[in-house]
Amino acid sequence: MACLLAPLGAQAQERFSLFVGSPQHTVDRMVRMARLRDGDVVVDLGAGDGRVVLSALRAHPGVRGWGVDINPELVREATANAKELGLSDRAQFFHRNVFDADLGQVSVVNMWLFPELMRLLRPKILSEARPGTRIVSNGFDMGSWEPDETDTEGSRVLLWIVPAPVAGYWSWELPIAGDAQRFEAVLEQRFQVIDGIVRVGPRRGLLEQPRLRGEDIAFTLEMTLARGGLVRQSYSGRVRGARIDGTVEVTLRDADDRRLVLPWQAARTATTGYFRPTGQEAK
Ligand SMILES: C[S@@+](CC[C@H](N)C(=O)[O-])C[C@H]1O[C@@H](n2cnc3c(N)ncnc32)[C@H](O)[C@@H]1O
Repeated sequence: MACLLAPLGAQAQERFSLFVGSPQHTVDRMVRMARLRDGDVVVDLGAGDGRVVLSALRAHPGVRGWGVDINPELVREATANAKELGLSDRAQFFHRNVFDADLGQVSVVNMWLFPELMRLLRPKILSEARPGTRIVSNGFDMGSWEPDETDTEGSRVLLWIVPAPVAGYWSWELPIAGDAQRFEAVLEQRFQVIDGIVRVGPRRGLLEQPRLRGEDIAFTLEMTLARGGLVRQSYSGRVRGARIDGTVEVTLRDADDRRLVLPWQAARTATTGYFRPTGQEAK
């Protein structure tokens, strides 16, 4: 199959890949990797005879699914297979181009398409699928968007978690050493890889070990604040649009490592105080 789906290099363009069904043991690994739970909606972009969606639904009675395929005969076959397996009430198949599938309400997207087709679908997935949506591929990757997990037991099965968009300016306050202190952060992002810098008054620091998995964000920060001295902070929270809600574990290194756990509520801001003039005074 790999050779049938081999990329054409410089001729990269939207091409319809052929139907070759994923072997059942690979389908089973794809279903396992998606870690399905009740209420999930599973789709297969290029569903063929429906085997991936139907296997997921057989294994998980609380899950619904649908698939699209460019070939109407395969759509009929998948629909008949769903009926034969008694899954018609939870599975649907549509004659549709993968680029016209609505990914807004799904939890898991499966694919086994030409590599360039997957790359062309990447922006659609990132703009339409909700943060936390699991993307599972039989074998092929999505270029510089590295998978979050790879199963190499036999042929490769890859998993991506759609990351929440976090690039930009964020701000929050923490009551450390008396009054609330304002944190102004600038986050950079490429897919699930994030970086960040923070300013508190005249002091600046770097986000350490920043992690983003779907909506879950975490990082640590160690800064000597004008008030509070050396303070280590471990943040973890959930990104919900223009807000992050979570907790921060604060360790006051200059006060016998006294620890406190505080709520963390960050808000996206249109501008940032990070670039405010610093002044020439060493603080
Ligand atoms: C390699 S098969 C994979 C079938 C199934 N997902 C599986 O893993 O067994 C790829 C399928 O994608 C369909 N396909 C290819 N390009 C498509 C497109 N642009 N829109 C919808 N379906 C497409 C083909 O008709 C074929 O059935």
